[in-house]
Amino acid sequence: KHISWDVQAAQKDGYKHFMLKEIFEQPKVIRDCLTGRIQKGRVVLPELDALDIPGRLTIVACGTSYHAGLWAKYLLESWARIPVQVEIASEFRYRDSVFLPGDLVLTISQSGETADTQAAIRIAREAGAPILGLCNVVGSSIARESDSVVYTQAGPEISVASTKAMCSQMVLLLLMTLSWGVRKGVLQGDILERCLHDLPLLPDQLEAELPTIREKAKTLSQGYADARSFFFLGRGLNFPLALEGALKLKEISYIHAEGYAAGEMKHGPIALVDQHFPTFAMALGDELLQKVASNLQEVQARGGRIIALVNPGAAPAVEDPWVLPDMWGPLKSFLVLPAVQLFAYEMAVYLGKDVDQPRNLAKSVTVE
Ligand code: AGP
Repeated sequence: KHISWDVQAAQKDGYKHFMLKEIFEQPKVIRDCLTGRIQKGRVVLPELDALDIPGRLTIVACGTSYHAGLWAKYLLESWARIPVQVEIASEFRYRDSVFLPGDLVLTISQSGETADTQAAIRIAREAGAPILGLCNVVGSSIARESDSVVYTQAGPEISVASTKAMCSQMVLLLLMTLSWGVRKGVLQGDILERCLHDLPLLPDQLEAELPTIREKAKTLSQGYADARSFFFLGRGLNFPLALEGALKLKEISYIHAEGYAAGEMKHGPIALVDQHFPTFAMALGDELLQKVASNLQEVQARGGRIIALVNPGAAPAVEDPWVLPDMWGPLKSFLVLPAVQLFAYEMAVYLGKDVDQPRNLAKSVTVE
């Protein structure tokens, strides 16, 4: 598939910043990712069929792409029963990693030019492992060095802070999970059926929700602009999203933020919580909610303010919860992601920061 990137697509289309435009392009991105990939009740990913089913998947990436890989691990292991290790490329490339027969290395890179990720591919190649690329830029270095490439078709991402690229990576990683799960004969029928029914509805649902999500993000961020630090807490699929929310806030508003597994707070970090150290919590109506709710009680007991993303009728006892419409299973993540993106965006705008070109950052880290 050749992706034609016209000049128009690289303009702001009336949005104040590329980042805002790219966040609001996510419904279109999901549609484009799904085009041609769900046919007659099946997932169609010929790029995957060209490779053996992996005995083990090693996902290697950096930054936001690394968070997408962490998110996919939960689905790949649960739905496709594939053991997954997710590696930060700059660590993986210098470690004397162990490769096993049946390994497949999946590199995730929007730009396809990230130096550490490229270096990790060379190491995997030397070890004889096949390489699958998940890239956005057609013909990029990483795309060319991979044995097979799945393109995210997200269009040009201009803002340094990656937004729609992660959304597209998550859609394709979910489709890859379904494809491998079916081929392995381990995917439960109801999960496949539900995904194939709900995924095509997701773009319109997201399109309808984005203005409300933005409004809430704008109101909340102004109430927390004096924060010195934030915890972002989540469990399960929301743990990688907590890491991503923290990264977004750091890189464009310059407020310190730490993404943390909510269950880890009692092993030390909770000592930091006081009225000047708020917590952004993902307390969605999933099977881990009660655990997250008790983590939040600990935070409240220490005077920590909380912004909590919740679903209707399942909200823990927090002040002014941020209610997101309930979605089935992992599709919740496609509303959580824009919520944390827009929280960071509105905070950065409120603080008068350069949203699209944050200080000291480059769109693609092509040097070590
Ligand atoms: C994310 O907002 C940053 N721009 C950065 O962490 C980025 O995700 C990382 O450099 C990886 O880039 P890639 O996906 O192009 O390899």
